[in-house]
Amino acid sequence: MAKPKTIYACTSCGAQHPKWLGRCNECGKWGSLEEEVAAPKGSLDAIPGEARDLLGFGGAARVEAEKVRTLGEIEPGNVERFSSGISELDRVLGGGFVPGSVVLLGGEPGVGKSTLALQLAAQIDADSMRSGAGERSVLYISGEESPEQVRLRAERLEDDGRGVAILAETRVESFANAWKELSPKLVIVDSVQTLQTSRVESSPGSVSQVRESASLLAATAKLHDTTLVLVGHVTKDGTLAGPRVLEHLVDVVLGFEGDRNHAFRLLRAAKNRFGSTQEVGVFSMGERGLEVVENPSELFLAEHRDGAPGSCVIPLLEGSRPMLVEIQALVAAATYGTPRRTSIGIDDGRVALMLAVLDRRTPVDLVSRDVYVNVAGGVRVGEPAADLGLALALASSALDIALPAGAAACGEVGLGGEVRRVSRLDLRVRELARLGYSTLLVPPGTKAQLEKGAAGKTRLVEIDNIANAVAWLREG
Ligand code: TYD
Ligand code: MG
Repeated sequence: MAKPKTIYACTSCGAQHPKWLGRCNECGKWGSLEEEVAAPKGSLDAIPGEARDLLGFGGAARVEAEKVRTLGEIEPGNVERFSSGISELDRVLGGGFVPGSVVLLGGEPGVGKSTLALQLAAQIDADSMRSGAGERSVLYISGEESPEQVRLRAERLEDDGRGVAILAETRVESFANAWKELSPKLVIVDSVQTLQTSRVESSPGSVSQVRESASLLAATAKLHDTTLVLVGHVTKDGTLAGPRVLEHLVDVVLGFEGDRNHAFRLLRAAKNRFGSTQEVGVFSMGERGLEVVENPSELFLAEHRDGAPGSCVIPLLEGSRPMLVEIQALVAAATYGTPRRTSIGIDDGRVALMLAVLDRRTPVDLVSRDVYVNVAGGVRVGEPAADLGLALALASSALDIALPAGAAACGEVGLGGEVRRVSRLDLRVRELARLGYSTLLVPPGTKAQLEKGAAGKTRLVEIDNIANAVAWLREG
């Protein structure tokens, strides 16, 4: 047998290097390289057959040489799907799970991945009980928590998932019996970071262990038409061994985001072989687990009050879904020499830019004052379409003039103070009209483009630059 080859893998991006380096030259991260024993050569190609043997399924290979056909000869066909029982999850998946597909669910620790996974398990279980398809349609493999802990969590949830088969195990080779016996519709592995296989010698949690284990499981899922959900932790500063290196071998990559101190959670698809990546799912974490939020705007604006200076409502777009959020600004006299600038839920650079534009293009004085910006509800605003609303919130606080009741603003602001167009204004306008907003400031020349009736009772006011926005605010 050849001597096992040593390689150095980056725990952040998964890049492999023949020599140790202080800094990964793929992703530029320092001190992220770890020594590993290289996976046996050609292992990735050989997986379907080997996975079958390893996982104890044996038997003749189902993989046979496909005849080469032209695209024209192939029927498009419909993708078969089954519902996850959670409407917002179905939306992100593109209408439900595809049998035999592999879904990676990533997110920071504590965001609620295990909760979502367990609720999903309970839903699928309840569903197959109802349809009489038999019990044990879900196998939940927990590598992090004991069955007792999982049971404790299930107690808190609406559907307690009594029929969900649970296995506390981390060695991939040991999943075989349960998988074979139950032949479940859905297998959930929480989490990929705990997986290990005897096929590679490196320590559990290392990049090659995670990659090798996950590819074995993925091949098994494909072979048996089982849907596989892999849960993976992602850290704030990027990615820990796992999710990133798995992205290419799964069909769907879902990211679960949210601020732990707030109830609001967003589920996004970063990759989806069976659907769009434009859809987002919205959840709220409560006492009894995650609840779907059909109307996020109503959730975010529940505490919004008209008539308070320093607040502006903006229509954001998450994928193709409009959401109204409130930006709050507080401008106060600076107590020390250098004024403080703090922002939560929005990029500091964006705030600094808006402050500079306001300073140069309008009479609002902000230079020597402390500025605090916050996006209500724990939402993160990344869209430039929020600029106009942000500028108005800042000006409103500095001037101590509240925006008129029922007003909102939407537009990107350039360095010259000009208001620029945003994408999908129609969707945003419709959402504002639906929720009864009376006025919306929009970029110039957009009114004529909107479909007739899109704005309903909402009055659209075209604003061409930031100085006019401030003038509009002053006139009330
Ligand atoms: P968890 O699913 O364990 O997160 P992850 O698997 O992503 O690390 O959930 C984490 C948090 O959710 C935890 O701090 C407690 C909270 N939580 C609730 O608020 N309500 C609930 O019903 C449950 C089950 C959890
Ligand atoms: Mg967890």
